[in-house]
Amino acid sequence: MKIAIINGPNLNLLGKRETDIYGNMSFDKYLDVLKGIFPEVDFQYYQSNVEGELINEIQRVGYDVDGIVLNPAGYTHSSVAIGDAIAAIKAPVVEVHISNVHSREHFRHLSHVSGKSVGSIFGLGLKGYELAIRFLTEKK
Ligand code: DQA
Repeated sequence: MKIAIINGPNLNLLGKRETDIYGNMSFDKYLDVLKGIFPEVDFQYYQSNVEGELINEIQRVGYDVDGIVLNPAGYTHSSVAIGDAIAAIKAPVVEVHISNVHSREHFRHLSHVSGKSVGSIFGLGLKGYELAIRFLTEKK
């Protein structure tokens, strides 16, 4: 089974960035944890700070992988085009946010991604990625 994890802007700084909100672990390290939990999954990982590059990657993997775990970070709240890309592809997308976006600033309450995704997870820290992958691997 092939699963793509796509992270948006500033998530390359996990472990260094606002650690009170996002924790102390880098995503590279967490990816190793995920590979240990799901040895049967063929992971493809991509991170970009650039909106168009994220859309290109969603399109590139969207007709090939069995599922996508997507954290569009700040673009969640602004990018109609990322929402459109999710609607365009075949692979099911699970939206993940590390923090509870609904307990933060009002502008984070809007998501252009939730309505196009099969489901959304927020506020559960990095564990949200594991839960999203578990859902995708158990999905018929
Ligand atoms: C985030 C929440 C977004 O509002 C924020 O812009 C991020 C990270 C999260 O994972 O909690 O960069 O997507």
